[in-house]
Amino acid sequence: MTLEVIVLAAGKGTRMRSALPKVLHRIAGKPMLGHVVDRAQALDAKVIHVVIGHGAEHVQAQITADRVNWVMQEEQLGTGHAVRQALPDLGPDTVALVLYGDVPLTRPETLAALVDLVDENHMALLTVHMDDPGGYGRIVRETGGNIVGIVEHKDASAEQLAIHEVNTGILALQSRRLHEWLPRLSNENAQGEYYLTDIIAMAAESGVRVRSVHPGNVAEVQGANDRIQLAELERWYQARAAESLMRAGAALIDPARIDVRGEVEVGEDVEIDINVILSGKVRIGSNVRIGANSSLRDVVIGANSQILENCVLEQCEVAADCTVGPFARLRPGTQLQRAAKVGNFVEVKNAEIGEDAKVNHLTYVGDASIGARSNIGAGTITCNYDGANKHQTEIGPDVFVGSNSSLVAPVRIAQGATIGAGSTITRDVSAGSLAVARGKQREVPDWQRPKKK
Ligand code: UD1
Ligand code: CA
Repeated sequence: MTLEVIVLAAGKGTRMRSALPKVLHRIAGKPMLGHVVDRAQALDAKVIHVVIGHGAEHVQAQITADRVNWVMQEEQLGTGHAVRQALPDLGPDTVALVLYGDVPLTRPETLAALVDLVDENHMALLTVHMDDPGGYGRIVRETGGNIVGIVEHKDASAEQLAIHEVNTGILALQSRRLHEWLPRLSNENAQGEYYLTDIIAMAAESGVRVRSVHPGNVAEVQGANDRIQLAELERWYQARAAESLMRAGAALIDPARIDVRGEVEVGEDVEIDINVILSGKVRIGSNVRIGANSSLRDVVIGANSQILENCVLEQCEVAADCTVGPFARLRPGTQLQRAAKVGNFVEVKNAEIGEDAKVNHLTYVGDASIGARSNIGAGTITCNYDGANKHQTEIGPDVFVGSNSSLVAPVRIAQGATIGAGSTITRDVSAGSLAVARGKQREVPDWQRPKKK
């Protein structure tokens, strides 16, 4: 069975009060529509038809997944009208799954169960029981229990309004049924819209039974119509993300105070303190500790390393047994070899720090390599930029750079060399030697300070 997914994403989302189309508002750092499209990809959909209207160009620019077929709905005349726009591109012999671009957190298992129920004589509907069903389409069942229709809130009788089982909007059926039924929809109803939900009655009339599936949790089928609902979905997502980290072996000091905005892998006995943000692809080895208020994006951290409080790491690799921070910034292209140490108020960019090397305080290392066991004193700056181009600083193993030194790149400091504190190094330094490049100390005895007139 081949699956095609149709995602409805043409709505404006007035209640967001935003210039951004609704489906581009983010959950866990990713547009809601991105979550839905990813889900469709995971279900192995052959084509993902995304029906867009409001802010179409923005939506297309933001969602760059494969297998997406963009379908324009110029005027939003209802959910049935929206799905109908995809008909010219929809195969006859496939199963179609309809999703909403603003319902981002449906689990793949739930959708797979829905799709599995579809065959020649059955379609499938995701429904849920709600204490307060206000606003939703109600599921109408005949006495035997079979679903025979959906009636929209605004069209419902008092008796129907008392029904607590509601339509989530998510459904699956043979594509050929959509080809057959959608052209027959009418808009003679309270809202003057073409309702996708009217196909349920058509199914019942054609002898196609409607099977139902319920989600594990209501949040799976909740849409975000305003920023409050968006924030609620975010919290629900984050709670699940925290649980899965804990299942994988991470101790979270407070599971309510971590934010995962990407894919995170953790080893055993990882400890993550409060207010940590993990984005992109993050891999954390066993026994790693991440201090409070640190932010890691696209980072790999080896076993037993410690990222202390208030660090910002982006696109870098930290090997095993390293210590970083507190207050360190590792920018893209930073590589720390085993047991390297980068301390407070140190910024590193596009640089390799060798095994057991130390860059402990107040230093900028950019476009550089530092050999094993070298010690870079406080306040050292690699002057990598001449105003036009970037240049490399190469520091060999076992080098000692005294505090407050400027290393003007391009420059090489060979193995075992020593740089006197306060030096401005402009030429290469050979192995084993001492380089001192600073004004000589003078002394004027009995110095009289100037006096105020
Ligand atoms: C719809 C269902 C209702 C269900 C509810 C669940 C219909 C007629 N009603 O109602 O039974 O309980 O969802 O949330 O289907 N959209 C388009 N183009 C359109 C109209 C809508 O792309 O012309 C998109 C919207 O952007 C949104 C989704 O379809 O993502 C649902 O539309 P919405 O107007 O929210 O439907 P409801 O009236 O809430
Ligand atoms: Ca809605």
